[in-house]
Amino acid sequence: MSRKTAFLTLGIETSCDETSVAVLSGEHDVLINSVYSQVDLHAKYGGVVPEVASRNHVVKLPYLIQEAVQSIGVRLQKISLIAATYGPGLVGPLLVGLTHGKGLACGLGIPFIGVNHLEGHVFAHRLTLPDAEPPFMALVVSGGHTSLIDVPQYGTYQLVGMTVDDAAGEALDKIGKMMGIGYPAGAEIDRLAAVGDPKTVRFPRPMIGSPGFDFSFSGLKTSVVYHLRKNPRERREDIAASVLASVVEILTKKSIEAARRFHRKRLVVTGGVAANSHLRNALTEAGSERGIEVSFPPPSLCTDNAAMIAAVGAFRFLRLGESHPLSLKPDPSLGLGVRESDE
Ligand code: KG4
Ligand code: ZN
Repeated sequence: MSRKTAFLTLGIETSCDETSVAVLSGEHDVLINSVYSQVDLHAKYGGVVPEVASRNHVVKLPYLIQEAVQSIGVRLQKISLIAATYGPGLVGPLLVGLTHGKGLACGLGIPFIGVNHLEGHVFAHRLTLPDAEPPFMALVVSGGHTSLIDVPQYGTYQLVGMTVDDAAGEALDKIGKMMGIGYPAGAEIDRLAAVGDPKTVRFPRPMIGSPGFDFSFSGLKTSVVYHLRKNPRERREDIAASVLASVVEILTKKSIEAARRFHRKRLVVTGGVAANSHLRNALTEAGSERGIEVSFPPPSLCTDNAAMIAAVGAFRFLRLGESHPLSLKPDPSLGLGVRESDE
């Protein structure tokens, strides 16, 4: 299909501190996926400040949209569908992208669809390996989420487990702050750990043996606080390696067990923490020992981006015939899939 006649979806993502715009042709072909990270703005506060994030989305989003369509030589009038994240996330930032998307759809006279950010993370896999279709188990592990989601088919989800307190990335960011690492700390902890000794400190593995597939990371954080107070001179590389050993073991054990329990032959790992090299190695090895193929989208699709949002929008519109009215509101605590016991 030529670009002139293709079905083009404009995706918008503003649920946290990344302003992102993408244009997708059909269901898989990413024409552009531009991401503006506000991370430098928030670094001095040691975390995302919602009001600062909202204001910056307002400034950057219209410019990013113009730049995205211009750079691929497509007029806005050629866009077929607008897809914007409507939850979960920070309400102010969500409102900016959602309102802008709805306004554009209204002005252009085209359909609008609100997208669940977590479903977006799952669809990063569809963009990467369109032929590796469900069923599979998905681990969405980021600064905001740590969830195991069973995917029998795209559009149908069962929540298998989630964190009962901090997300894995959030715990790494908080631990990093205590270690004097800037925000966000995950990537730096990854680098430090590569030259550290993971056996230096045996930090706890909360809930690793508990029945079910829920996670907990806040106890690990507390135990690192106490350790750092008592051992202020411990090498940061060794602390980083010891912390990651705990996080990676928990995520690996629970995810592989969940895939096996649900008889899934594939585990899809996505979200910012999926960029972690130690996690990638451990999961790939554990998966191959048990006949489970472990797939990771490339880091640019693992972290927050609008291509994955456009991918959900195009799928739901084209395959399921869905769209939303312009009255759709942001839903900061939107989940993905219900637990079997909640049904
Ligand atoms: O998916 P994402 O960009 O945003 C959220 O939806 O949260 O994930 C950001 C999180 C941060 O907590 C960051 O520290 C973590 O992903 N992260 C990493 C790595 N790169 C980013 N954590 C561990 N290792 C990495 N290489
Ligand atoms: Zn995310």
